[in-house]
Amino acid sequence: MESQNRSSFTGKLGFVLAAAGSAVGLGNIWRFPYLAAKYGGGMFLLTYIILAVTFGFSLMVAEVAIGRKTGKSPIDAFQALDRRFTWVGWLAAIIPTIILPYYSAIGGWVIKYMVGFITGQASTMANDSFFGDYIGMTVEPIVWFLVFIGITAVVVMCGVEKGVEKVSKFMMPILVVLILIIALYTIFAMDGAVDGVIYYIKPDFSHFSIMTVVAAMGQLFYSMSLAMGIMITFGSYMKKEISIEGSTHQIEIFDTGVAFLAGLMIIPAVFAFSGGDESALGKGPGLMFITLPKIFDAMPGGDIIGAAFFIMVLFAALTSAISLMETIVSIFQDKLNMKRIPACLTVLGISLVLGIATCLGYSAWSSFTIIGMQLLDFFDFISNNILMPITALATAIFVGYVLKPKAIIEEAECEGNRLKGKKLFTVMIKYIAPIFIVLILISSILDFFGIVKI
Ligand code: TRP
Repeated sequence: MESQNRSSFTGKLGFVLAAAGSAVGLGNIWRFPYLAAKYGGGMFLLTYIILAVTFGFSLMVAEVAIGRKTGKSPIDAFQALDRRFTWVGWLAAIIPTIILPYYSAIGGWVIKYMVGFITGQASTMANDSFFGDYIGMTVEPIVWFLVFIGITAVVVMCGVEKGVEKVSKFMMPILVVLILIIALYTIFAMDGAVDGVIYYIKPDFSHFSIMTVVAAMGQLFYSMSLAMGIMITFGSYMKKEISIEGSTHQIEIFDTGVAFLAGLMIIPAVFAFSGGDESALGKGPGLMFITLPKIFDAMPGGDIIGAAFFIMVLFAALTSAISLMETIVSIFQDKLNMKRIPACLTVLGISLVLGIATCLGYSAWSSFTIIGMQLLDFFDFISNNILMPITALATAIFVGYVLKPKAIIEEAECEGNRLKGKKLFTVMIKYIAPIFIVLILISSILDFFGIVKI
């Protein structure tokens, strides 16, 4: 990734599509709905949206601008701007290494369900205990995990990401339409679903807790691919004449829109199938896999819609996994002077160890928990709720006090572009974001060690 021969996106659309392709993935379809269900429905949604337009916006502008200003990948970018902050780039690099393995384990679940629908087993999968029994098996989840990470690794090794991206660009709109159809079907055809819509949309302050904010903020980083250097890398490929503010807004709206619709597809269905039993809302990572097969089983033509749905989700997940792996591989290449193939194989090796452990965390090793968490929840928590906030905090302090907001604003306003949210950006980055992240980190850590149950 040398800056002199750095290729660039052709235009604004190229940048927005590439960034949105990395942003929209399992985070929107799998992670957002289960968090929203668990942490207060409408209250979570409201918190998330407020954070997205203030905090998410400012952090994304900062990252893209750092990338474009330096024309470098994250570690080099921080190093070029101020040597004392090089560690932030390294920290950012550890995060995708933790995410990729468990992301791929879930990618494996997606393949299993896709195959299940293609082979006409909707009614078996609609069974309440199916998901739990499935992930409790020792061998099969590992096999599908290997298939998912295997495809990802082959694509990265052969450097054919562009091909997958092309297919995915065409599948993404179909996925959005399918999500909408499924949501409308549930809401209009199923008894009790409307209560779920109300729970999801109407903020109820009695559902608010610090964990709502902790979870919403972790989700924001995850979903918008922030706080791990990705947007710095994307920014480094962005041409000067393109508006950072405009493209940030588009990515934000698209990413949040897909997450919102995914919640609308899943949460009302949880109400319809559980008869309003609130404990069904706390199902966690399995929620999508438990609820969706039931909808498809009840829906006319559900087998086909289910199969189509999981195929599209698989593509969305693959593009994100490919870009996660590509990020780690390029760091190994640049920083450890490795050749591409050995770098890919090393990343694959790390992912295999952590990913197989994640799968076993639900079966053979299920009695092994870290501070009461299964491995998947642990990896997810440590990356989203601890490491990403630390990276975001360091980025905010760096931009607010070392580089100074002015430098970012100048970058965002070069070549006649405007940054209308200048004031918001400056106040967020200098004051609100740092204070807020510190508070959130303290609460997550207290919660983590079980000192305070929030
Ligand atoms: N945003 C992705 C999703 O919603 C997950 C993700 C986080 C990601 N960071 C990333 C994907 C970096 C690609 C690159 O699923």
